Amino acid sequence: MDESRGNWGSKVGLILAMAGNAVGLGNFWRFPYVAASNGGGVFMIPYFFALIVIGMPLMMVEWSIGRYGGKYGHGTMGPIMYLQAKQAMTPKKAIIVGSLSGMIAFGVTILVNSYYNQLIGWSLGYGFNSLTGGYMDSSISTGEFFASYIQNPSNLIFWIISLLVLAFAVMKGIEKGIESWAKIMMPVLYAFGIILCVRSLTLGAPVNPDWSSLKGLNFIWNPDFSQLSWGSAIAASGQIFFTLSLGMGIIQNYASYLKPDEDIITASVATISLNEFAEVILGGTAVIPIAYAFLGEEGIKGSIGLAYMALPNVFRTMTGGGIFGAVWFLLLFFAGITSAIAMYNYLVALLEEDAGINRKKGAWIVFFGYIIVGLPVALEPILTKTAELIYFTEVDNWIGNYLLIVLGLIEIVIIGWCVKDRALEEMNKGGLWKVPKWYFRLFHQFLTPITIITFLIFFTLDYAKAGNFNLVPSYVANMPSLVIWVNLGRIAVIGVLIVGYIQSYKAIKNKYKYEIDGIVEFS
Ligand code: ALA
Repeated sequence: MDESRGNWGSKVGLILAMAGNAVGLGNFWRFPYVAASNGGGVFMIPYFFALIVIGMPLMMVEWSIGRYGGKYGHGTMGPIMYLQAKQAMTPKKAIIVGSLSGMIAFGVTILVNSYYNQLIGWSLGYGFNSLTGGYMDSSISTGEFFASYIQNPSNLIFWIISLLVLAFAVMKGIEKGIESWAKIMMPVLYAFGIILCVRSLTLGAPVNPDWSSLKGLNFIWNPDFSQLSWGSAIAASGQIFFTLSLGMGIIQNYASYLKPDEDIITASVATISLNEFAEVILGGTAVIPIAYAFLGEEGIKGSIGLAYMALPNVFRTMTGGGIFGAVWFLLLFFAGITSAIAMYNYLVALLEEDAGINRKKGAWIVFFGYIIVGLPVALEPILTKTAELIYFTEVDNWIGNYLLIVLGLIEIVIIGWCVKDRALEEMNKGGLWKVPKWYFRLFHQFLTPITIITFLIFFTLDYAKAGNFNLVPSYVANMPSLVIWVNLGRIAVIGVLIVGYIQSYKAIKNKYKYEIDGIVEFS
């Protein structure tokens, strides 16, 4: 194996880094509003179904193919999926599978981070404002405060600081950079989450006797079956992909730094358990009940609103709100950093492995790259004097929601239906527990691909119904002056995907030229 790529220093460090990769803004920013706006308790039924049927089997696949790719010096999805596919098809076909997979992972790591890094910057800025009393002035609403915050160019400094934190961490390498940061940030994040949980459960009913935090807990844990719908099932499966970092290329990238016989089954279970503890227990028990106690059921159904608009309202009214606000926003900041770092590292690995650029230089190239791709997200509110975030919404609709599932589908089909038992053998190498054959047959070969296909069909129909395929999507139809931001978002998505395809194709072709051209036998 290629030692020069770097390795994880310790098991604990690896698990914390992988948990950091999964635990992110998805757990604390996205989960509470997605759960709240999809029926609360009843959302948890399709959520756990998707966790078991999609999350667990796919997590094992991603660890396994990442570790396999790492053996050959690869940490990016193009070559990783090429190596898988060519076990079951000709190299000429396998390069197409590899290039499509590489294209999606390239799109995700560039474009999800283009807005994800903004959210991290806002979290840092809001943490600062919690301590300085920025949003505590009740003469303006927290919604107005948020709008003025994102329209103020000087607040972009928090975005740049966040990018610098990422650059310096990635520059130091796998063990000294990513792993060391995860070892500090992850325990602090869990401690902050527990503090907020305790505070949340001891709040009582400070505003309205009908809105106690325990009622908030009831809202998230007591299903109202009349609210069960396909919409909530779709949202639940999408949440599982996002929160576990599946279909992004970043679990595979971290796994590529493993030793070839390192136990990935236990590690997959540990990653999922730590992520779900953060999401369901801490995200569900801290954020939803706190918000419920101050805002009631209707008040917790915002999107970006919940983390950055509804909760500041809560901190305004709560005793010690400045401190609890800082704890909440620092938690968001740490959660965001430990996931964004994985997307950052993916691109640095791509530059290292495919272009021979060293890590330090690569980290700076990605830093400036992220500034460029982040500019439309940062500039839209400043130039339009709105807080609609249309560019962000459009890019997130396609890259952060849709394409993750497509990549997950490619992976599970290649593993379950093409590579089959050889994939199971590879997965089980070095495992303390082994995945039994019946499990692989039932999940990897049957339930997981079928569920993802069904889900993708319904998701596509849902998108069509919501008008997302229209030239002017419905969500922007009554804001004609903002349509340009939809088009910019679409140009960015298509442009990055084209570059991603070409890049992956070339990278695979360069390394495996002879077998692809049929000059030597493929294995
Ligand atoms: N899995 C990461 C998150 O939840 C991307 O935010």
